[in-house]
Amino acid sequence: MQEIVRGINVTKIFKKGILSMNKRIAVERVNISLFQGETLTILGESGSGKTTLVKLLLKIIKPTYGEVLFLDKGLIGNISLLSQHPEKAFDPRWKIQRSLLEPAKIKKIKLEEDFLFGLLEKVNLNMDILNRYPHEVSGGELQRIALLRAVISNPRLLVCDEPTSMLDASTQALIINFLLKLKRERHLTLMFITHDIELAKVISERTAIMYYGEIIEIGQNIFKEPLHPYTKLFLKGEIKPQENLFIYSTGCKFYQICPSRERICLHKRPPLSILTNRKVKCWLYA
Ligand SMILES: Nc1ncnc2c1ncn2[C@@H]1O[C@H](COP(=O)(O)OP(=O)(O)O)[C@@H](O)[C@H]1O
Ligand SMILES: [Mg+2]
Repeated sequence: MQEIVRGINVTKIFKKGILSMNKRIAVERVNISLFQGETLTILGESGSGKTTLVKLLLKIIKPTYGEVLFLDKGLIGNISLLSQHPEKAFDPRWKIQRSLLEPAKIKKIKLEEDFLFGLLEKVNLNMDILNRYPHEVSGGELQRIALLRAVISNPRLLVCDEPTSMLDASTQALIINFLLKLKRERHLTLMFITHDIELAKVISERTAIMYYGEIIEIGQNIFKEPLHPYTKLFLKGEIKPQENLFIYSTGCKFYQICPSRERICLHKRPPLSILTNRKVKCWLYA
């Protein structure tokens, strides 16, 4: 498969305050490749760094260390990002129709009215939404309009950051089916970001598990056969939000709660071990 994006040791540190005392490592030493035509899911708890990683991989923000390469030059101008907060992506002074059609207009793509109505129908929206302003529609409706806007310009890479977070279960299923069908028909590359394990199971071909800014496990069949101790607990729903979790600056970040920890885990960060069809950051596999 053709590699289209490569992140090498990508790290993002946010500094808060003038003295930069308060540092937050949002993404740490991530090595990742994206392949043409695949669906890659980034799965992790809220705050694990998923959105920051996506912004880095799409070159929306610059890494503190490391670099991102677009290996397929045809990607430039052909990427659509469906952001986690669709409300920020709409001009409040524009009616929905204008916002929706803007990317197609820029790319000089002609859209038949019937085609547009058909699209709206597929995501369970009524055509009268076109004449409303963003503040007159719900978050879930805006999320679906944002999705249509993201696909209308025929991107090669579609990145969806928690695209169904504001939808009820049935609309969520509708949107996922819409995405899967679109992917099949257009041989689209899809990056799907979520904290929802069940959703990830449905859509994933390859899955990356994030924990405190790191990809601790990536590959296929993760749901059937998780290897990292964190992944195992997380997939079973046995990770509770930690109040006073201390992240060791030298050892493994999962040390404090890991059921399989050993001495070395406290002192040294695990390397990324490369197994068949799987990469894992854990001393058990090093
Ligand atoms: N612009 C920013 N300034 C400071 N900290 C940030 C910024 N963006 C994200 N963070 C922090 O980085 C961490 C990862 O955030 P984010 O990438 O949004 O995670 P996720 O998408 O997995 O919920 C969080 O602790 C968040 O508070
Ligand atoms: Mg996010």
